[in-house]
Amino acid sequence: MKKVSPHEMEELWEEDLLERYPENPAPEKAKEEFRNYDDPKRETVKEFYRLNHINQTYDFVLEKEKEFLKFDKKEITLWEAVEFLNTLVDDSDPDTDLDQTQHLLQTSEAIRADGHPEWFVLTGFLHDLGKVLCLFGEPQWCVVGDTFPVGCQHSDKIVYPEFFKQNPDSQDPLLNSKYGVYKPNCGLDQVHMSWGHDEYIYQIMKDYLPEEGLAMLRYHSFYAQHREKAYDHLMNKDDHQLFKWVDKFNPYDLYSKAAVPPNVKELRPYYEDLAAKFLPDTLKF
Ligand SMILES: [Fe+2]
Ligand SMILES: [Fe+2]
Repeated sequence: MKKVSPHEMEELWEEDLLERYPENPAPEKAKEEFRNYDDPKRETVKEFYRLNHINQTYDFVLEKEKEFLKFDKKEITLWEAVEFLNTLVDDSDPDTDLDQTQHLLQTSEAIRADGHPEWFVLTGFLHDLGKVLCLFGEPQWCVVGDTFPVGCQHSDKIVYPEFFKQNPDSQDPLLNSKYGVYKPNCGLDQVHMSWGHDEYIYQIMKDYLPEEGLAMLRYHSFYAQHREKAYDHLMNKDDHQLFKWVDKFNPYDLYSKAAVPPNVKELRPYYEDLAAKFLPDTLKF
């Protein structure tokens, strides 16, 4: 398998999401054509999910939480974090169309253009900042990709569910039961999600944004729930309310590619002022 850079992997992963969840769904037949397994890009995405599904065990997630939720890696301003994240593209090929900052700004500018409140705009701007995990040397399969609960049975609604057979948790009678270590409708706050940029940025921001924004950060890659409704049995009433906001957020993440890329320099002061209203001067990663 050809080695791909984090940025290339990002693009492949996003392309895959758009194929799975197109803005204007194509008729069934056209959809099947996407499922061309000889396509080398698709093979790369498949291999990515194989590694993700095998390695994201319950114990692995608890270890990662211990390691990263100490926030002892870096203390920097928001804009330093944005620029740091952007170094992800430096060694990638020149014809990639969007860097990380532009994806963040396209998402947040589309939210702003629709007249949503400031916390929503800021949430859009922050949502992928957790990808700095890649720059701390973490492999892509524990930074990006769809997320899912660990500690209970994997839904077959998760992308490439067949790979879970090789996840050691699938052999464990407790971890492979419907509710696993959880109680029915205990609420997602009790549930550990596969480790990645969503949980990480949620934990960094959890004291600063309203809970609707926090849910967007924490669950934006949880497609098995917000698109497939596969985990209603773990959710409580509050979660269902919050997921209305996750649903509202998702199209801005997936479908906000603008014809003209946002002007980072011009927009920077607005986002620095916005951040100053909600966030401390520096953020701990
Ligand atoms: Fe993301
Ligand atoms: Fe995103």
